[in-house]
Amino acid sequence: MKLSTIALSALLLTSVCMADNTAVKMEGVKYIKMLGGALKGELKAHMKKDPSGLEALAFCTGSADKITHDVNAKLPAYAKVRRTALKVRNDKVNTPDSTDEKVMKAYEAAIEAKTFTPKDIKVVEVGDTTRVYKPLVTKKVCLKCHGSDLSPQIQDALKSAYPNDHATGFKEGDLRGVIVTEIKNH
Ligand code: HEC
Repeated sequence: MKLSTIALSALLLTSVCMADNTAVKMEGVKYIKMLGGALKGELKAHMKKDPSGLEALAFCTGSADKITHDVNAKLPAYAKVRRTALKVRNDKVNTPDSTDEKVMKAYEAAIEAKTFTPKDIKVVEVGDTTRVYKPLVTKKVCLKCHGSDLSPQIQDALKSAYPNDHATGFKEGDLRGVIVTEIKNH
């Protein structure tokens, strides 16, 4: 094969892979937005009703996992969406695996190096599955339940619902976690 033919095939192969990757990425982002949007909408409404955060906290404790299940029930059978973090509150359902940890550490390194953008969607192949990650940055509204200066009522509620809670002490701009979609090659 001539060099130019090899170069051309390599180019074609790359563009085909990139096109595929873009389609999966877009599909993943759609599912991420479904879960993110559902949780954010509820959080906003409950925080507005009770600015102390207590009502929202009770709601999240009782329903975040159920909302995640409901969103997953709407996805095709080959897809899943979930949340995870390096410092986890609900260790029954949100504990990261080693790929999750690697991706989140890369986000944290970018935040540290000031090269981070929340638009940095990462696409990772794991076996026969493509994962699409979106970073969740700590905002002011998150601090009521994930910050360092929690009200005594929030502290008590967290202690009884999550005796293993590691998800406090965050500052604005820290990586709070990620939403990840897993799409099985099909
Ligand atoms: C009213 C309290 C409250 C506020 C405000 C809040 N959270 Fe949470 N957060 C929780 C609770 C409770 C859980 C555990 C939910 C469960 O049981 O699945 C949680 C879990 C999470 C998780 C899943 C990983 C884990 O630690 O279990 C992420 C990611 C997360 N929150 C991000 C955020 C972000 C980002 C914000 C701000 C936009 C925010 N939270 C605001 C109470 C809150």
